[in-house]
Amino acid sequence: DALHTVVLIPGDGIGPEISEAVKKVFAAARVPIQWEEHLISTKNVVPGQDLIPSTALDAIRRHGYGIKGPLETPIGKGHKSLNLTLRQALGLYANVRPCRTVPGIRTKFDHVDVVTIRENTEGEYVGLEHEVVPGVVESLKVITRSASERGARFAFEFARQNKRRRVTAVHKASVLKLSDGMFLECCRRTAKEYPDIEFREALIELCCGYLISQPQRYDVLVLTNLAGDIVSDLAAGLVGGLGLTASLNKGEHTVLAEAVHGTAPDIAGKDLANPTALLLSAVMMLREMNLHDHADRIERAIYTVIKEGKNLTGDLGGKARCSEYTRAIIDKL
Ligand code: IPM
Ligand code: MN
Repeated sequence: DALHTVVLIPGDGIGPEISEAVKKVFAAARVPIQWEEHLISTKNVVPGQDLIPSTALDAIRRHGYGIKGPLETPIGKGHKSLNLTLRQALGLYANVRPCRTVPGIRTKFDHVDVVTIRENTEGEYVGLEHEVVPGVVESLKVITRSASERGARFAFEFARQNKRRRVTAVHKASVLKLSDGMFLECCRRTAKEYPDIEFREALIELCCGYLISQPQRYDVLVLTNLAGDIVSDLAAGLVGGLGLTASLNKGEHTVLAEAVHGTAPDIAGKDLANPTALLLSAVMMLREMNLHDHADRIERAIYTVIKEGKNLTGDLGGKARCSEYTRAIIDKL
């Protein structure tokens, strides 16, 4: 029968190596998909031309599923981030990042299980910045009711479908009365439609304080874009960091799995990178494709290898190369 096609964007730096790991593990698990590779890179951006070739965007739109390695986002002036361009161009309005304690990874807490859900298209990320007069700049935070409602609904639907108990809206409505105020109001209104899910509210700084002292307080968090960016890294840090945590961007008809760690140029091309984050993101995508058996098997194999601790990459204190770790996962399938 017809195979699904998944668009693969290997990315910059360690991207190609960790993408190779995903391809090998998928092949070994006999995941019924075929790949269509698109080489998007920050290095290929040509001034005056589209940041991302329309062939790549069309492919993701057409096939509905994509996996993306890290793409470099330079700080300072220049072109817009390719990561953000992808999210905005594809209407990937929600970003889901589960952070759950990984057996075998020593951290301060034993039972963290937090999912951050981030509005992914607007907020401070709209790229509306200007210099008013020399020495004075403005960066706009744009919040719309429609995107806030969509994000809130997504969070509650996610909670219901994944049998989670509670959604906490994380905000700074005490100061940002209009923007976060409206976001919070949308969360409150949506909460009323989900009486089966407990709803709470938390000021963002209190939430951060509790995350690092009593993370068990939290279940699903829903946040505006920049707040979600920051708090999701904090949550990832609680369970071992960005090298171990998955991320999925979702739009109406489009799913893009991505590793959210950097491109690690210092170890690029040396077969030393840890592919876990991209693998676990790819597993999330498989669940979206209803390939639950494949997802479960791959996930179990990854967690078994980590728990055994014998074939870990350098970032986890081991000596294995990326390819050796990948082989160990394949052996467990
Ligand atoms: C993330 C990343 C991106 C973001 C960068 C690369 C633009 O940090 O996905 O969390 O800030 O959203
Ligand atoms: Mn981030």
